[in-house]
Order: sequence, then C-alpha cells, then structure tokens
Amino acid sequence: MTRTADQEDWSQVSSEWIAWARVPNHDAFWAYRESLAAFIGRGEGEALDVGCGEGRVSRELKACGYRVTATDRVRELVNAAREARSADDYAIASGADLPFEDTSFDLVMAYNVLMDVEDVPATLKEIRRVLRPAGTLVISIVHPFSDRGHFATTEATSPFVIQDAYFGSKRFEGTEERDGLRMHFAGWSRPLEAYATALEDAGLAITSLREPVPNAGDGWDRMQRWTRIPLFLWLKARPLELK
Ligand SMILES: C[S@@+](CC[C@H](N)C(=O)[O-])C[C@H]1O[C@@H](n2cnc3c(N)ncnc32)[C@H](O)[C@@H]1O
Repeated sequence: MTRTADQEDWSQVSSEWIAWARVPNHDAFWAYRESLAAFIGRGEGEALDVGCGEGRVSRELKACGYRVTATDRVRELVNAAREARSADDYAIASGADLPFEDTSFDLVMAYNVLMDVEDVPATLKEIRRVLRPAGTLVISIVHPFSDRGHFATTEATSPFVIQDAYFGSKRFEGTEERDGLRMHFAGWSRPLEAYATALEDAGLAITSLREPVPNAGDGWDRMQRWTRIPLFLWLKARPLELK
C-alpha cells in the first residue's frame, strides 16, 4: 500500500501521541469529556471508532453502552488501544477503506480525525456505506473558525485574530510542548462548507450541531478563553434514504 501524508505523519508521532493523549487534563479533550458523553448519549449496538488513536474515545463509547470496534491506520496506535482494552474489536484500516460489510454499525465516531484525512469525501462515503440506515455518524473537528486564527496573548480576554482568509483549504503543521510532553500536529484546515458538502455528497444529513464550551477544571487558565470562541465543532449526521 502506498503511504499517504496522513499515514506518514501519524506513524512518526505515535509514541508522542500516546503520551500526550493519556495524561489526564493534559490536552483539551478532558475539558469536553463530560459534554461529549452527553452528546453521544446512552446507546447500545455496534459502534465503530474511526481514527481511534490510543483509544480514549473508544473507551468513552464503551462507557456509553456500545460494543466498540476501534480502527486506525497506524498499527502502533491500534496496538496501544488494544493494550488499554479500549474496545471489543480492533482493525488497522484507513477511514476510506474500512474492512467491514455494508450497514454493519449503529454508530460511527470520527473524533478529531477528519482534519488529518486527505480525502474527506471518500472517507465520508465509506463511513456512510458501513452505517445502518437508522445509524448515526458523530463527528468532532477543530472548529473551522478557530482553526484559522489565534489568540493574540495568553490572557483569557485576549483578542482572537484571523490574519489569513477563512476560505480555501490549507495544510497546517506545528509542534506543541507543555509539561515535558511534545506533540507534532499536521493536517488540513478547511472551511465548514467543505465538510458540509462532503456530508451532502455522501448522502448524510446533519441532524445536530454543537459548539461545546470547556468544563471548568484542571487547566482552566489555559481553557477559559475557549468559552469565548468555539474550539471544537460537533455534528451528528444520518444516512438519507436512497431513492
Ligand atoms: C488527533 S488523533 C485523534 C485520535 C482519537 N480519535 C482521539 O481523539 O484521541 C487523529 C488520529 O487519526 C488517525 N488517522 C489519520 N488519518 C487517518 C485515516 N485516513 N484513516 C484512519 N485514521 C486516520 C491518526 O492515526 C490518529 O490516530
């Protein structure tokens, strides 16, 4: 298989990501965790976690009541998810080529993975294929608006500055370092319309949209500013009936 940019990036940073994602309250995930569980809701049946990383979202899906299959295209990350008993089944797979029968899942989760995927339309079409007709796709992305700007200072009241154009797709790359951990992030920043049209073309209709705010807790000095500007965008989408 030819290695694509998204596969290269994540293979190279898998151990950095495992350390980064596993320390409670280290990154933004933890400040949204309770709201995420409420957004997913209690459920049962088969869930697929696409781009599972080391498995923390799979573990949330299990806690919500689902039987979970965790997939990622990076072997080391699937192994880490398995070692942490994050799911019930595991597969190394690209989101655009899932090794499952049509209509296998009641819920598919794509949590902060679509920004890393080169071909979003192909990935959403493949997700649509494995979703049951009454199934739900849950998506989290870094909010396309917050992705295009930055806070001018570290103050909670800092102005948020957008220097570049909002429209157009742009590759991003950067390294974050905090509390002795380091993580290199790379992906694509795209306007909201790119995701909305890809969902539409895949035959998926948006049924819920949330701009969650962080919960107060550890790391609040870092997170408080995200009560003014949305850091993440959450969507639910359902298959449209095929005519
Ligand atoms: C930011 S991490 C998120 C991991 C996990 N969902 C979480 O929130 O902790 C992005 C993940 O997407 C995976 N990924 C990137 N491109 C992918 C693709 N085309 N198909 C499947 N997984 C992919 C990466 O290997 C990585 O584990």
